[in-house]
Parts: sequence; C-alpha cells; structure tokens
Amino acid sequence: MGMLDGKVALVTGAGRGIGRGIALLLAREGAAVVVNDLGTALSGEGKDESVAQQVVREIEGFGGRAVANSESVADYGAAGRMVEQAVEAFGRLDVVVNVAGILRDRMIFNMTEEEWQAVLDVHLKGTFNVCKWASVRFREQRWGRIINMSSTSAFGAPGQPNYAAAKAGIIGLTLSCANALSRYNVTANAVLPSGWTRMIDSIPTVRERTLQEYGKLPSELAAGTERDPANVAPLVAFLASDRAQSVNGYLFGAFGYNIALMSQPKVIKTLRADHRWTVEELCEIVPRAFAHEFETITNQTGFSSAIEAIPEGEWIEVMPGVRFWATKLEPYGELTW
Ligand SMILES: NC(=O)c1ccc[n+]([C@@H]2O[C@H](COP(=O)([O-])OP(=O)(O)OC[C@H]3O[C@@H](n4cnc5c(N)ncnc54)[C@H](O)[C@@H]3O)[C@@H](O)[C@H]2O)c1
Repeated sequence: MGMLDGKVALVTGAGRGIGRGIALLLAREGAAVVVNDLGTALSGEGKDESVAQQVVREIEGFGGRAVANSESVADYGAAGRMVEQAVEAFGRLDVVVNVAGILRDRMIFNMTEEEWQAVLDVHLKGTFNVCKWASVRFREQRWGRIINMSSTSAFGAPGQPNYAAAKAGIIGLTLSCANALSRYNVTANAVLPSGWTRMIDSIPTVRERTLQEYGKLPSELAAGTERDPANVAPLVAFLASDRAQSVNGYLFGAFGYNIALMSQPKVIKTLRADHRWTVEELCEIVPRAFAHEFETITNQTGFSSAIEAIPEGEWIEVMPGVRFWATKLEPYGELTW
C-alpha cells in the first residue's frame, strides 16, 4: 500500500534533478505519473524527448505506471494537453507538481529582454499554465493538489533578477490558488527546494570548490548524500497525499534533510500618524523607529547556512534521528523607545 494509491500526478521538469526524484517517489507511492520534460539545456535551448522517456522506463522498471510528455510548460496549449494526457492515459488527474525550470543568470544592468522573458515564460507562465488547466478539473472533481517549486532566490539573489522575480511570482500565484481553491478541497503549497543538480553546477564558486576538492561536479557527488535532489521528494509526496488536506497556502523549505516552515510577510512594527506624513517627519522618525529591523532584516537567501549556524544546544530531539528547532517568538527587539 502506497500513500498515493489510485492517484494520478503530472510532474513537470521530471526528466532530471529534483523533478525526476519527485516523479520516481510519487510512482513508488502508487501514483500513475505523467512525466513531463522538454529535455532542454539549462538555458532552455534545445529539446530531447529521451529525457522524459528514460524516467518513464525507470518507473515501469519497478512496476509503476507512467507516460512521457515532452512539450514545453511555457506553451499554454501544451500545458492543457498535459492535463488531457493524464486523463486519457489514467482516467483522472489529482496532483500537479511544477518543477520545470531554466536559468539565464545575469546582473540586472547586463540582462537582455530575451533573457528576462525566457525565464519568466518557463517558471512563472509555465506554472500558471499548468495550474490553470489543472484547476478546471480539480474544481469539477472537488479534490486536487498543487505543489510549486519556488526558490530562496526569490528573496533577492543578486545575479538572478529574472529568476528571483519568477520565483517570487510563483509564491504569489501559489497563495492565490490556495485561497481561491480551498473551498473545492484543493490545496496549493510552494516548496523552496535544494539539491546538487546541473543548476548548482552552474554556480561558479560551488563548481570550482568541488572540482578542486573532489575532481567532480556537484551533481556527480550528490547521490545518497544530504545534497541529493531526491531528498525533496518525500515532502512533495506528503503534500500530495490525503493526509495533507489541511496543509494549504504554506511555504516549505526542503534544505538537505531539513523540512522548514517559512514565515510569510507580516507587519512587525508600525508608526501611525493622525495626518499625512511630511518628508521631514519621516527623515526624523523612520530610522529611529525601525533601527533594529534595518540592522537585522537583510534580504536573506542563505537559509541553509542559517540552519547550519544554529547552535547545537538550541535543537530538541523529538524522535530518534529527528531534531526540531523553532525561532524565538519575539525576535524583533524592544517595543519601547
Ligand atoms: N537545485 C536547486 O538547488 C534548486 C534550488 C531552488 C529551486 N530549484 C528549482 O527546482 C526546479 C528543478 O531544478 P533542478 O535543479 O532539478 O533543475 P534541472 O535543470 O536538473 O531540471 C529541470 C528540468 O526542467 C526541464 N525543463 C526546462 N524547461 C522546460 C520546459 N519549458 N518545459 C518542460 N520541461 C522543462 C529541463 O529539461 C530539466 O530536465 C526548478 O524549478 C528550479 O528553479 C532548484
């Protein structure tokens, strides 16, 4: 008995890396899977149908059920055909996992319009395309699961303005779906994943370090370690299952063996005037009122390193092999002047 017996899932970008691990685990947990992958280079160029077909063969190899799809998620009509393919092959669709992604990293001042658009098209429009078509079915059948890959880069990766904007957009899209579809028993959650894939191979500092230390690329070292992209899959399988019915509209970090619940923006301090502010007043009062936050809130993208830096003594063992940590409830300093 698997956690997903009888369910049908569409996983985009499932031919490699994180998506492949997700497709394999969903199938092992009993789901029939549409394995979508365009089979592109990291930049989004080129196409290779064998990439999706290979994962289908792996799934069939352990007795699972899967079909391949090699169209692009960036194509609105193609996303509709992916959903139809699930229904034609397996009779229904219950789960969509949006993983397909490309990179065109460049500093903002060097970025071309084409580099901007290509990344927005695959990540943000592609996620919309699949959510749109799937949500029509989910609403009719009064059940569904949407699981979208965002990224820590959404919070300000400096060399990735296109990718950061797309991944932040995916958070907004996911939360909108969560609020709109909960009445139909549909949940939508976003995952900020990690894993040493070819995407990580493309980060010069990480590539150079592992090449120097081990003579191998990060993606060649990942299997079976905390960096294995397949480590993201169990969280996704949980979110796809009946057991996660009440988990809706959250952001999760899957950082190595950490499953982190991320906070979402909230008002942490406010200054309220009885009149429209003057600029002079703001020059005087804003630095004073928010000084603590200006010092402590930075545009964090290094959540994994932040977890690594948590002192040993702050972890609580909650079951054998599992430790828990929670931020202090009031991390925002004194409320007095
Ligand atoms: N690897 C990480 O540490 C990391 C961190 C944060 C977020 N992510 C996100 O996780 C997802 C998977 O990343 P990965 O590292 O496994 O990358 P990957 O390059 O190994 O896999 C991505 C797959 O998507 C496919 N793809 C690209 N464009 C497509 C399109 N238009 N239609 C269909 N398929 C397409 C590619 O062919 C590739 O097989 C991406 O959305 C990425 O942004 C990854």
